[in-house]
Amino acid sequence: MWSTAREIADGDLVIIWFTRDALQPLHITAGKELNTRFGVYRHSDLVGVPYGSKVGSRNGKGFIHVLRPTPELWTLALPHRTQILYLADIAFVTSWLDIKPGSRVIEAGTGSGSFSHSTARTIGPTGHLWSYEFHEARASKAREEFTRHGMDGIVTLNHRNVCKDGFTVEDTVDAVFLDLPAPWEAVQHAKKALRKDRTTRICCFSPCMEQVMRTVSALNDAGFTDITMFETLLRPQQVDVLPAPPSVAGAAAQLKRAEARREEKRLRQIAQAQRAKRKRDDGDGDGGAEDGGAKGGKRARTEDAEDSGAADTPLAGTPAPAADAAPSAPAEERKISVSKAFPEVRGHTSYLTFAVLLPPAVYAAAQGAAEAQSSAASGAATPQADAAA
Ligand SMILES: C[S@@+](CC[C@H](N)C(=O)[O-])C[C@H]1O[C@@H](n2cnc3c(N)ncnc32)[C@H](O)[C@@H]1O
Repeated sequence: MWSTAREIADGDLVIIWFTRDALQPLHITAGKELNTRFGVYRHSDLVGVPYGSKVGSRNGKGFIHVLRPTPELWTLALPHRTQILYLADIAFVTSWLDIKPGSRVIEAGTGSGSFSHSTARTIGPTGHLWSYEFHEARASKAREEFTRHGMDGIVTLNHRNVCKDGFTVEDTVDAVFLDLPAPWEAVQHAKKALRKDRTTRICCFSPCMEQVMRTVSALNDAGFTDITMFETLLRPQQVDVLPAPPSVAGAAAQLKRAEARREEKRLRQIAQAQRAKRKRDDGDGDGGAEDGGAKGGKRARTEDAEDSGAADTPLAGTPAPAADAAPSAPAEERKISVSKAFPEVRGHTSYLTFAVLLPPAVYAAAQGAAEAQSSAASGAATPQADAAA
């Protein structure tokens, strides 16, 4: 669909990534300039640059990333003409409709072409997408984009009211996707377009339950089976950076250090109390030469100890501060990233109603079997009911 070359060429479509929320499609046209709040860029400066490059602006005010388009990026960057389908719904619909390379698919309406681009990539050149849009300006804009994106061989765009006029193909497609305000009005037409030689599928995308109920009735009336409805919810995550909790070894070392400090303090208090007691005792004594010498000697030793600062150093028997523990940064310095779901889930985009259309012969056989089973059940119930009566 888009360039597969390594480097950007004149005429290529690229996706300019400014920020996570600001993307823009750009057709490289030599001679033109991209002027944004993230700087000024000449298109010609991007020619020859490998896709995915980070490019600085000419006026040094910022930079951009120049990306190769994909349907996912196109969905995020496309010019909105309508509400569009996003990746979560597109992926779910593609999976449930069993759309794969070579599939033949109908979509209505085309809208902004978000679903069309993903489907075109999935089905590839061996498949085909018939896309219908009754709003003329939207149809011609989408047609222009499909041509520019090299999708002409894969997509046929029809300007048509499908509820009134039906589809342009019969007994042809593997899957139908309806994103219309009144899909129930197109259900019988869809049945005609679906091929009858194999099991096929339909999906209707509707924002309200009332629309779902009308669609389910129409699907039942038209003979579709396995009718199932899903709601896909996006659950954004927020990443926060928090202080890391201490490791077990770190916490143990911290405890050891605190214990050692407490023990030191306790021993210092005991030493102080002993000194104070000795001072008091010395004051009480008569200071005889022998006594004085002995007492003076004791005091001298104590004062020596104080002068040398020994009272502040760990005393004998005091556990040394945990020097053996691995030095660990304080918890507040170590950070970890934590991902948390947003507490509130913002509203769903739409309900997705799926149904299956069996080939007529298979459907008739299944109906016959179901009827036989129910009449057998009612036949078996009758004697019991009689007996009970
Ligand atoms: C919500 S948009 C489709 C968005 C599209 N799925 C996408 O992902 O970009 C619905 C489109 O259906 C078109 N539409 C509504 N009723 C229609 C009808 N009866 N026949 C054809 N198109 C119809 C509208 O004009 C509108 O463009």
